[in-house]
Amino acid sequence: MRVRAGPALLAAALAALTACPEPPPFRGPLVLGGRRVAPEVLNRGRAVFERACKTCHGNGDGQGPTGFHLSPRPRDFTKGVFKFGSVPAGSLPTEEDLRRVIRDGLAGTGMLPWKLSPADLDAVVPYLMTLSPRWREEPAGEPIVPGPDPWTGREAAAAARGARVYHVVARCQSCHPAYASPAEIAAFAAELGRPVPQPRPRPGEPVATASDFGGPILAPDLARDTLRSVRPGSRLADLYRVIAAGVGGTSMPTWKGALPEEDLWALVHYVDRLPDRKAATASR
Ligand code: HEC
Ligand code: HEC
Repeated sequence: MRVRAGPALLAAALAALTACPEPPPFRGPLVLGGRRVAPEVLNRGRAVFERACKTCHGNGDGQGPTGFHLSPRPRDFTKGVFKFGSVPAGSLPTEEDLRRVIRDGLAGTGMLPWKLSPADLDAVVPYLMTLSPRWREEPAGEPIVPGPDPWTGREAAAAARGARVYHVVARCQSCHPAYASPAEIAAFAAELGRPVPQPRPRPGEPVATASDFGGPILAPDLARDTLRSVRPGSRLADLYRVIAAGVGGTSMPTWKGALPEEDLWALVHYVDRLPDRKAATASR
């Protein structure tokens, strides 16, 4: 008796130790980002999340065991703050924005592309939206729709205009590196009849600025760093989106509305043609 009860008791004790309380299933529909989602979809989404995402994103709080050594850290979904939407930075991304990030990943980070079935992808997105109360209170932001590229066939002229917009009109080098010498920038300013921007110390290096993600974030070197949201097959459209919309939770501003459409596209061509950019994107 003792011989047989021993292992059985041990097994029962082990089961009690390792058993996690199952979270209750979703029993009714929820309105998330202004859309009603059925409980079956949310339960399916949670199963996908537990299987594929939890190891980094934890219980939605970004504290999964695999995520601790990663930089940038996995997103904490309980905050409801996202970086790479097609919406003005700071507003909630659309479901398609979330699907794009999950499908294609974020280059150069632990967020790899996920080959989920369409039904799993469509389920995990609304499940993510249950993790922050923001989605129950607010609809997604209004997507920024790019106008047609006015520079098609005139890319060199676009890049030349882009260099002037970058360094004199928008002054992107207040965070990102400058890619023109002080003399060139002064000449651009004279040509446009605008004041010469004050150069900052070490203009060839990027600056770190405060973020909502637990610490300052360095603006990327646009000529050398892997841009997270820019995919090899759609470089121009992706650059337009991130420059126009900005990066949520960081100092990267929304440029749509602050610059004429023609200058937004000029910046897209300029950044796309910065030295090494294409080579870096192609070799990913
Ligand atoms: C190996 C770790 C890892 C796994 C597994 C992982 N992620 Fe991520 N995820 C990350 C990291 C790291 C970031 C932050 C990247 C950044 O800040 O640029 C991130 C960011 C995100 C974002 C935020 C995008 C934005 O615009 O802010 C979403 C959405 C996301 N992950 C969804 C998922 C889903 C869904 C799964 C499972 C199918 C998943 N992730 C699995 C590491 C991971
Ligand atoms: C006030 C600071 C600031 C200014 C000004 C600024 N940026 Fe940024 N930018 C950032 C930060 C910070 C990030 C990085 C966000 C991250 O990595 O999470 C960024 C990221 C980017 C990215 C990369 C997105 C990706 O997919 O990785 C591009 C492209 C970019 N900025 C272009 C521009 C252009 C063009 C201008 C000028 C029109 C500009 N930025 C002005 C702070 C700034």
